[in-house]
Amino acid sequence: MCGIIAYTGSRQAAPILLAGLRDLEYRGYDSAGVALLPESGGEPAVAKRRGKIAELDAAIGAEPLPPARTGIGHTRWATHGAPSDANAHPHTGSGNDVVIVHNGIVENYAALRAELSERGHAFESETDTETIAHLLEEALDSGNDLLAAMRETCARLAGSQAIVALTSREPGVAVGARIGHAGAVVVGYGEGEMLLSSDLAALLPHTRDVAFLADRQLVRIDERGATYETLDGSAAAEVEPRTVSLDPASADKGAYDTYMLKEIMEQPAALADTFGGLMTVEPARLTLDDLGEARPWLERVERVLLVGMGTSLHAAMVGRWYFEQIARLPADTDNASEFRYREPVLGPETLVVSVSQSGETVDVLEAMNVARASGAPQITICNTPGSQTTRVADGAVHTYAGLERGVASSKTFTTSIAALFALALETARVRGRISDDELARHVRDLAAMPEIVGRQLESFDGIAKAADRFRTTQHILFLGRGPALPIALEGALKMKELSYVHAEGYAAGEMKHGPIALIDPTFPTVALAGQHALRSKIVSNIEQIRARDGEVLAIVTEGDDELIALANEALTVPPVPALLEPLAAIVPLQVLAYATADARGCDIDQPRNLAKTVTVE
Ligand code: G6P
Repeated sequence: MCGIIAYTGSRQAAPILLAGLRDLEYRGYDSAGVALLPESGGEPAVAKRRGKIAELDAAIGAEPLPPARTGIGHTRWATHGAPSDANAHPHTGSGNDVVIVHNGIVENYAALRAELSERGHAFESETDTETIAHLLEEALDSGNDLLAAMRETCARLAGSQAIVALTSREPGVAVGARIGHAGAVVVGYGEGEMLLSSDLAALLPHTRDVAFLADRQLVRIDERGATYETLDGSAAAEVEPRTVSLDPASADKGAYDTYMLKEIMEQPAALADTFGGLMTVEPARLTLDDLGEARPWLERVERVLLVGMGTSLHAAMVGRWYFEQIARLPADTDNASEFRYREPVLGPETLVVSVSQSGETVDVLEAMNVARASGAPQITICNTPGSQTTRVADGAVHTYAGLERGVASSKTFTTSIAALFALALETARVRGRISDDELARHVRDLAAMPEIVGRQLESFDGIAKAADRFRTTQHILFLGRGPALPIALEGALKMKELSYVHAEGYAAGEMKHGPIALIDPTFPTVALAGQHALRSKIVSNIEQIRARDGEVLAIVTEGDDELIALANEALTVPPVPALLEPLAAIVPLQVLAYATADARGCDIDQPRNLAKTVTVE
């Protein structure tokens, strides 16, 4: 959570920082701020405002900042201290010549604050972050340079942190640090300029040559380049910039009103690119080239455990189905935040597959640490090359969805499912569970999906009508069975995060054990009733709801006239093979949630209280 950007080089820093903050706004939008080291020297100039970047823009318009070629910026998702101008980052120490931005939680901040207050430091905010600025100031006062002062400061902090700092004592320099899983610090290598950011997205307009800080690493940048150290003061090993192939144009909204709509519409291309990255049709071949040290384990393991959070957890639930159905391996899913605290019983016999589009979600990373400590081999399904899950895992299956900017995930859900399908196929292949012909059929089936999803996205007519019905509704039940259960859960998640309508995803078989008590004419149900989603059982559920005057919107296979007649409304999906039905079934639910949110006037790209990447527990 929280977005960080830093620039040093020959250009004016302020416009670069402000553009970067707009690219980072999905990380949090409670407040925003920048700090610049003026070209004329002297203390950093700070501007910060509660609210979105537009408020900060207006403040800077009214009171312009001095020319500067070095600066930092921050967009906040509040943890300690309410959103306010005073609590907005950047924060300074008592003497105003040190300025920092921060992502994470200083867990011992109360003790540090008391200690610093006793030594005469005056605090201006309620944040945990401000203690870092004061500690850094003391470390500089005792003769350290900024890099050494940061190292000394980090040693005092409990919890996970990502920090970037400037001081007027070292013009043209910025220092960054990463401890634990509070979020990435990505170093961008430009021509005569260097950048730091919490996200690739903010760096891509300037460079594709980037390096990710590892846990407990520090970096010092000036316009000539970067030097790296570890927290114990030794030079950091293996920090080489890599060139990422992501297209900066994918960071634009293009002709769409929102990133979310653009990303929903990009799914055919994202699926085609992911397919192309992981397999070929002629000859039918899997090309999972990044499995690394995990590859031999595919043959040896006795079970698979898939972990993730949010939308990625729902993709993992579809993946479980694939491992069982295709590879015939026992498979289970777990919410990463529950898994890590349960003292799970596992070892080298269990392949742990983490799913995370960002590769930086703290609970997923902590779960991976637990898995590693248990000796379990690990593979991550990830959309961000170089991110932390790809470093911790023994191997990776990359998705090629491009940047995803909408806080609610869409194209990374469908591409994660495609990647899990590929991994299950590879596992089945090396274990001798599928023949060449079966493999070729599955590959052809997946190859057909981009075009099928593209056709689904051509017309939204029925969906607009359903959304209009849901505009005024308070609650919606989403029911699914088998592979449609994760789709019911994901459909409900999309609905609540985008439109703020209370939506419950439920296993249809559970309906009679509670939720049916809620059914009345004001409580509609969305029933996933595709041809492979245990249709006959869902038909009974729909009958039971209708018998109680409940309204049903059914998601059915094209031509299923019986169900179309039975439900109050129906949205159709094209007939596709059973294993790939989740890919088709989610599309109308994404659009339905989008259209409902639009009809209710919600902020679709930045739903209240949410952030794209969750790096605090
Ligand atoms: C946040 C986002 C979700 C996302 C989840 C997991 O809650 O709002 O859209 O599914 O994090 O993120 P990850 O990057 O691990 O897939």
